[in-house]
Amino acid sequence: MLKFFSPAKINLFLRIVGKRPDGYHELSSLFQAIDLGDVLSFQPHHEDLLTCSDPTLPNDEHNLVLKAAQLFRRKTGSQLFIKVNLEKHIPVEAGLGGGSGNAATTLWAMNQLSGQIATQAQLSEWGAEIGSDISFFLSQGTAHCTGRGELVQNLPPLPLRTLWIVKPSGGLSTPAVYKKLSLSGRQDYPDDLEAFFSGARGFFNDLEKPAFEIDPQLLDLRERLLSSGFDTVVLCGSGSSFFCLGDGQVPADSNLKIYSAKFINRSIDNWYEKEKFKD
Ligand code: C5P
Repeated sequence: MLKFFSPAKINLFLRIVGKRPDGYHELSSLFQAIDLGDVLSFQPHHEDLLTCSDPTLPNDEHNLVLKAAQLFRRKTGSQLFIKVNLEKHIPVEAGLGGGSGNAATTLWAMNQLSGQIATQAQLSEWGAEIGSDISFFLSQGTAHCTGRGELVQNLPPLPLRTLWIVKPSGGLSTPAVYKKLSLSGRQDYPDDLEAFFSGARGFFNDLEKPAFEIDPQLLDLRERLLSSGFDTVVLCGSGSSFFCLGDGQVPADSNLKIYSAKFINRSIDNWYEKEKFKD
């Protein structure tokens, strides 16, 4: 049996560059993997079978785990079917890329169980067919992503940062947030990466405006977190969770789920490992 950690991600900045003729949005975003994550166990089986600690998640082919297994067989001609157990820790509808990370982890595991018949570049390219964020997880954990998110430029690890993830009880649907964006055509935009690393522009997320329009309570939550002393409070992806940096005091509120996390990276030949996860 193979057991893998499946990290979440945050977007240190997320710029929406414009709307594309295919309905997707072109973006420029600095993605970072974090050590809040799920655990997946894989073993060969006579058919695909998914069990999950969260009974509200689909365990059929609507789950990206099984979509990824099918995709791997279709692309490689492999006859490998798998039994997967998904131990869910990443909150859903939180903008943390949990499902996409699970799909990337499944592609990695299928490839390991098949004797590495595919390259990492192939896994990354194939993953984009079933979700825009999947390719990022096949980077080494820090990457500038463009296109609809699937064009990945791997970057060296950033200095170790600790952060808080704050998830309110309500979630947000990614398509609904993108639908609420009012954009036409492609906007001119500065070199975000250069601005980020020179300190000229910090953390930001263009999806905050439509997300706050859908759920105005998120704006109140951001204000509360900022007044609790955090320097930075930014929506994760399409929400509804926030990441918080600095020395703030996380409010005690039973409607909020709070997670402490760190940036996480992997070496080229190995999958992500959470320190505590090693067994
Ligand atoms: O690719 P993925 O399935 O993760 O995207 C979910 C939805 O989010 C898409 O159907 C689309 O509505 C929206 N989306 C977008 N532009 C992107 C990524 C996602 O409009 N770059």
